[in-house]
Amino acid sequence: MTITIYPVTPDFAAEIGDVNLASISDADMGAIKQAFWKYSVLVFPDQKLSGTQHVEFARRFGALETTIATYRPGEKLRVQEEIADVSNLDPENKLLGRDSRQRMYNMGNRLWHTDSSFRHVPAFASVLYGRSVAPIGGHTEFADMRAAFDSLPPQKQEQLRGLVAEHSIFNSRTKLGFYDFAPEERAALPPVKQVMVRRIPESGRESLYIASHAGRVIGMPDDEGAQLIEELTAHAVQRQFVYTHRWRQDDLVIWDNRCTMHHGTEFDDMRWRRDFQRATVADIANSCEQAGVPISA
Ligand code: OGA
Ligand code: MN
Repeated sequence: MTITIYPVTPDFAAEIGDVNLASISDADMGAIKQAFWKYSVLVFPDQKLSGTQHVEFARRFGALETTIATYRPGEKLRVQEEIADVSNLDPENKLLGRDSRQRMYNMGNRLWHTDSSFRHVPAFASVLYGRSVAPIGGHTEFADMRAAFDSLPPQKQEQLRGLVAEHSIFNSRTKLGFYDFAPEERAALPPVKQVMVRRIPESGRESLYIASHAGRVIGMPDDEGAQLIEELTAHAVQRQFVYTHRWRQDDLVIWDNRCTMHHGTEFDDMRWRRDFQRATVADIANSCEQAGVPISA
């Protein structure tokens, strides 16, 4: 049986049925990739995967990035090292305390972003598995950055092509009032440059590429650059560009970080367990390198 595709809109987000991600044929994998290039966000309901099977599925899209755990060696992990733990649980599977550092860190996911744009080589695909889901709230919203770009006036599009922004994880965390980083963490994650408009090779479509991690725009005064990023974010997250995913237990969702932004919505994390785990496929190179834009100050 081949996969069944239920588009949410004609070219953004689709649900995929009749597939078990623990054992996919090459033909189905080909069909999944074609759908991924077209819809950018794919939802696979009712998957039963071990951690290893989750990681193996993600690897079919490319090499995985190292998780943040790498920067905090020795810390006890709840999930295997290849997986980013975006749950509200501690290594004993208890709810994180209100003041826990991991809780504060994960709060950054409530801001609109694209994964790992603060790394020199950002994320390509994120594969998020909802192992246990909050009964109220805790949705994930996705913005179609291709559609957002297409709808800008041509002069604006032309202005943005070739612009480069500086991204840092400390930009997004500072917005939440969270400054508590060790010097070695700061040293491990210096600001990086990313183009503001990307062309996605597989679809040929152009896309905005911004995030709450973006701070300065190169060649602009700081306040003007910050304002431009804010204005573009507000444009991109308008309702007509957004798909809200309301999770069911065992949904697995994969998105293309090159042409989407996403964020988690609020939920009572002092009350509900939300066990979400993410395997993240690295992009092939920095976005400036891929676009042939020189990386200079
Ligand atoms: C992520 C993320 C949001 C959410 O896993 O990258 O931003 O709703 N998650 O958990
Ligand atoms: Mn994210």
